[in-house]
Amino acid sequence: MKQIDIRNLPQYEGQEVTLKGWAANKRSGKGIFFIILRDGSGFCQCVIDEKSVSAESFEVAGKVTMESSIIVGGKVVKDDRQIGGYEVQVTNLEVINIASEYPISKKEHGVDFLMDNRHLWLRSQRQWAIMRIRNAIIFSIHAFFNEQGFVQADAPIFTGNAVEGTSTLFETDFYGQPAYLSQSGQLYGEAMAMAMGKIYTFGPTFRAEKSKTRRHLSEFWMIEPEMAFYDLDMNMELIESMLKSVVQSVLKECESEFKFIGRDTTILENLINKKFPRLTYDEAVRIIKGEVDVEGKNAIISLEEELKSVRQRLISVKNEIGEREGKMKVDGMKKGEVAFNQSKIDQLKNEQKELEEDDRNIPQWINSAKTFKYGDDLGGSDETVITRLFDVPIMVYNWPHEVKAFYLKRDEDPRWAKGVDVLAPEGYGEIVGGGERETDIQLLTEKIIEHKLPMHAFEWYLDLRRFGSVPHSGFGLGLERLIAWLCKLPHVRETIPFPRMYGRLEP
Ligand code: 4AD
Ligand code: MG
Repeated sequence: MKQIDIRNLPQYEGQEVTLKGWAANKRSGKGIFFIILRDGSGFCQCVIDEKSVSAESFEVAGKVTMESSIIVGGKVVKDDRQIGGYEVQVTNLEVINIASEYPISKKEHGVDFLMDNRHLWLRSQRQWAIMRIRNAIIFSIHAFFNEQGFVQADAPIFTGNAVEGTSTLFETDFYGQPAYLSQSGQLYGEAMAMAMGKIYTFGPTFRAEKSKTRRHLSEFWMIEPEMAFYDLDMNMELIESMLKSVVQSVLKECESEFKFIGRDTTILENLINKKFPRLTYDEAVRIIKGEVDVEGKNAIISLEEELKSVRQRLISVKNEIGEREGKMKVDGMKKGEVAFNQSKIDQLKNEQKELEEDDRNIPQWINSAKTFKYGDDLGGSDETVITRLFDVPIMVYNWPHEVKAFYLKRDEDPRWAKGVDVLAPEGYGEIVGGGERETDIQLLTEKIIEHKLPMHAFEWYLDLRRFGSVPHSGFGLGLERLIAWLCKLPHVRETIPFPRMYGRLEP
C-alpha cells in the first residue's frame, strides 16, 4: 500500500493507502473505534471496524491513547461530513509509540498552562492552522517582492548601534565588546539598496521593552524593504499593493485553515478592492479625539455605547453561570446533563473573562483618547480607538518629527517627518512603520546628536549620503502582528512557534 500524506487523500479515492501520524482523538462504539489521525499535512477520520481488521489490530486500536503515534492502512472513502471530507476505512493498524497520558485535553485550559506546554500545544488543530497560515504569508511575501524585482538581502543580527532608540536594546558580549541584538535591519538595508536598488531583509529582530501587551514580542520577524529613488508616496503605494497581494494569496491558499480557526474572512476579501485611506497625523488625531467622525461613527461615542453593552452582557453572563451552577448542585442530574452544563459554564466563564477585560480596557481607551496631547506619538490604545472605526488598513503619514526616528526625512513643512505607520483595522493597530529617509547630511547629523546616539557608530551610515546620495524609502512589516490581525487573534503569542516575550523564555 502506498504511503501518502493526508492532504493528498482526494487523489486516492477508492484506493488502499498507508498513513503515518498521531491519534488526535479517539471515540469508540460497539465493535468500532473512530480515530482522528493527524500527520502534519491534515486531519482525517480513520474507522476501525472489528469486522474489517485482524483481531490483533483491533486489540491494538483499543490501546491507542491520545497522541500515540500509529500507522494505518485502509481504503479512502469520500465523506463530506468528516474533517477534510474523506475517511479511511482501516484494514490494518500498527502502533509506533503509545503516548503517556496527554496533558492537553478537550477541556478549556488556561493560557499559562498552554504556554508552558507550547511544545505540545503546537499539535492542536488551531495552532496547526495558524502555523500554516504563517507559512503561507511568508511565502506570499517572498513571491511578491521577487516578482517586483527585489533582492532578498540579509542584515546582521549583532550590531554596534541602535536604530529604534537606545532603551529597547538587548546587550550581548561580542569578544569583550558590547554588541546589541538587531532592533531593525534598516540601516544596513539602506546600504544594500545603494548597491542593489531594491532589497528586502527578512529576519529576526529584538526589542527589550518590558511590555506585556498583546502586541509585543521580545523576538519577532520583520520584513524590511528599502528602495532607492522611492519617495513617501511611492512607498505607501508599495505597502498597499504588498498587503493586498499577501491577503489575496493567503485567502486562496488557506481557506480551510481560516475555517478551522473560525476567522470570518469577509473583511479581508473586501479590502482587496478598496483604497487604503491615507490620513495625516493631524487628521488621525482629530478622529481619535472625537472631533471628526468616520462615516457617521464617532470614536468616543461608539466606545461609550460599546461599554454599555459590554456591561449589560456581563450581568446576564454572570446570572446564567449562577443559574447553571445552582441547577448542578441539585442531586439526580443525569451524567450527560452534568457534562453539558459544565461545558456551558466553562464557555460562559471564558466569555466573562473577555468581557471583564473589555470592561477594564474601554474606559482606559476613552480616557486616553479624550486626553490625547497633540504632538505626542500614538500609543497602543489610540491605535485601537482609531482602527476600530475602519475595515481597511489606514496609513498615517506626516508625523511630528520630534516623536519619530532620527533617520526620517523632514518635510518641506519642517514640523513634519515623512514617516508612515500602517494601522490594521478591527482594533489591531500598527503593523508597518516606515518612511522616506533623510538625505541631508547636516540634518541627519543634528538628529543623531539630538537622539544622543554615538556618532562614530554612524559614520558608515553617513557615507551613504557622501557617496552618491539619492532619495530613498522603506518600511518594516512586523510578521507576527500581520498574522495576529489576519487570523484575528487576541494576542501575538500564538503567531510564532516559540514566543519570546517579557516573562517567557521557555519552552
Ligand atoms: O515601527 P518599527 O519600530 O520600525 C522600524 O523598526 C523601522 N526601522 C522599519 C523600517 O522602516 N525599515 O517596527 C516596524 C514594525 C512595527 O510596525 C510592528 O509591526 C513590528 O515591526 N514590531 C513589533 N512586533 C512585535 N513585537 C514588537 N515588540 C514589535 N516592535 C515592532
Ligand atoms: Mg513604529
